[in-house]
Amino acid sequence: MTNEAEFDKERVTAQIAEAVQAIEDAQSSSALRQLRDEYVGKNSVLARASQAIGKLPNDQKKEAGQLLGQLRAEFGRAFGAREAAVKKAEEEAKLAAEKVDVTLPVERHPLGARHPLTALTEDIQDFFVSMGWQISEGPEIDSEWYDFDALNFGPDHPARQMQDTFYVKGDKARDAAGFVGSNMVLRTQTSSDQVRGLIQRGVPLYMACTGRVFRTDELDATHTPVFHQCEALAVDKGLTMSDLKGTLDALAVAMFGPEAKTRLRPSYFPFTEPSAEMDLWFPDKKGGPGWIEWGGCGMVHPNVLRSAGLDPDVYTGFAFGVGIERALLLRHDINDMHDLVEGDIRFSKQFAMGE
Ligand code: DAH
Repeated sequence: MTNEAEFDKERVTAQIAEAVQAIEDAQSSSALRQLRDEYVGKNSVLARASQAIGKLPNDQKKEAGQLLGQLRAEFGRAFGAREAAVKKAEEEAKLAAEKVDVTLPVERHPLGARHPLTALTEDIQDFFVSMGWQISEGPEIDSEWYDFDALNFGPDHPARQMQDTFYVKGDKARDAAGFVGSNMVLRTQTSSDQVRGLIQRGVPLYMACTGRVFRTDELDATHTPVFHQCEALAVDKGLTMSDLKGTLDALAVAMFGPEAKTRLRPSYFPFTEPSAEMDLWFPDKKGGPGWIEWGGCGMVHPNVLRSAGLDPDVYTGFAFGVGIERALLLRHDINDMHDLVEGDIRFSKQFAMGE
């Protein structure tokens, strides 16, 4: 500024008067801060005026100094008063914004949502019931005998390690059917209900077992240590692999729509012979139609029938097992297993299945 070096008494007085007016009109603490910088801060009107005093003749310096002192005090008083008022108003506005209206109506009994796994399990059970099959759930803590031995897994069969098993410490089976003393496990598969079903329910048997199974996996996007399976077991006279294939196709259609179908690829399971992997095809699969692995199946191994006291020359059977999480992930294109186990009601509500 051109007049910077000169001390202009009227001008600086007028400027501070203007500042006091602006302070009184200020509506926020940030506006006040700006005024402080502009009028009394480092490069402000007052700072420049006080520098200019240095150039005044000595006899005028004192008076000029006193004037600036007065103006500064005037500014300070106005500022202090306004700052207190503005801060109070700001605080009140903040409290008002955070206020909870306790008179608003509340949802006294918020409705839950059925978990999609529960709903899908029931859909699958309905499918079997519609064909006249029995539904079983079986115990989640079961003897190693039912989970492995009765299903033709040898004592050192690698599959016992393959399905990383939770053993229940100290507990032994007390069942009366010849396997007293067997270790107890958290069942690794719903196939564990096969031989119990045959012994308890007798033949011919058409039974589906749904429920939780357990393996020592870490929870990640594709694994969870607790998951759900559906096991299907049919034992009768004269059953063949085409009965198995027809049942699988019917289940695929019920779960994935009228065009869905299945195919079998040779595989190995101790409790079936022959055994197969079952793949699923359905038209609206993400990324275009294609085959997806969905479960295992086969014709019940003669040793399994023998475990249940049946004559494999008289009876034959088929069995298959599918993962329920897997069906849900495939059907709804869910990418992360965490969504299924976190129990967030907003996730479950999206399905509105089976309500
Ligand atoms: N229990 C098998 C598993 O958990 C799945 C399975 C495979 C079940 C073949 C079956 C079958 O009934 O025949 O991996």
